[in-house]
Amino acid sequence: MSHPARALPFDVRVPIVNAPMGGVAGGALAAAVTQAGGLGMIGQGSAGSEASLSAQLALVPEGVRVGIGVVDWVVRREPALLERALDADPVLLTVGFGEDLGWIRRAQDRGILTAVQVFDAAGGAAADAAGADVIVVRGREAGGHGRHLVDRDVLLDEVLALTERPVLAAGAISTAEDVRRALARGASGAWVGTAFTTAVEALSSRGSRDALLAAGPDDTILSSVFDQAAGWGWPADIPERVIANDFTRRHADGRSAEARAEFTAAGAADDPRGMSINAGLGVGHLRAELPAAEVLAALAP
Ligand SMILES: Cc1cc2nc3c(=O)[nH]c(=O)nc-3n(C[C@H](O)[C@H](O)[C@H](O)COP(=O)(O)O)c2cc1C
Repeated sequence: MSHPARALPFDVRVPIVNAPMGGVAGGALAAAVTQAGGLGMIGQGSAGSEASLSAQLALVPEGVRVGIGVVDWVVRREPALLERALDADPVLLTVGFGEDLGWIRRAQDRGILTAVQVFDAAGGAAADAAGADVIVVRGREAGGHGRHLVDRDVLLDEVLALTERPVLAAGAISTAEDVRRALARGASGAWVGTAFTTAVEALSSRGSRDALLAAGPDDTILSSVFDQAAGWGWPADIPERVIANDFTRRHADGRSAEARAEFTAAGAADDPRGMSINAGLGVGHLRAELPAAEVLAALAP
């Protein structure tokens, strides 16, 4: 099905937004993506905090505008994080993985554009009804947390059919051809995570970069074991797509004292065999650690 292109409500030369990836997309990456012509987003994930967001915002040069993404259960735990995000006047705000979309109105009242990631058509309808300025369709191929239900292209068609709003395609967008196909299908652009995880400006650790560069398309799984080991507040039906490693092979449940201790030790040692390394099905395309501007140029349709 072909749909007329719907204009994005923010200015970009390249219709690509870097996904707000907790622990990966900080101020340096977001600024580099915006400066190269896309829209950069700062991500505050499970470990997000007001202090951490402020530290990342401080890395964005004066006059370079970026977006911010935070997580619903995290801002319920730390409301100051959402207040800080609103005060920063981002180009685009997203609060991910919650049912209550009341934040959209709060942001729009302050002139801030909003994006909602959806995992199925019902989520698309809810985002449309709540007035989201942009809807992000996140296919099951995507890296990180989500409900991994529907193939990206199928979901894109479904959501385009139920809303007039601009839609961004997300999930294993790894090449310029992927972006061109999404645009031809009716998307207004792409929301890209994994492809930026080994960018020079990303916050990714040495150990996670090595694992990302070594991983192939068959190396990811859906898991909640790291969230259990860390004691994060993720809903039980929202696992994360991660690179399979020793930890995921050995622990079916991350809540044991042994699993928790191992997880903590692996993080302290930056040992990818025991760390949660989020990645989508496009991870096999990662070949090198390139400046974000080069990653963006390679994805430009
Ligand atoms: C390393 C990593 C961290 C992520 N962290 C977040 C996050 O904190 N908040 C969020 O809304 N989405 C997060 N995501 C999901 C992205 O928003 C997006 O759905 C996904 O990256 C798109 O699929 P792709 O990774 O295949 O490009 C993360 C994804 C990755 C790969």
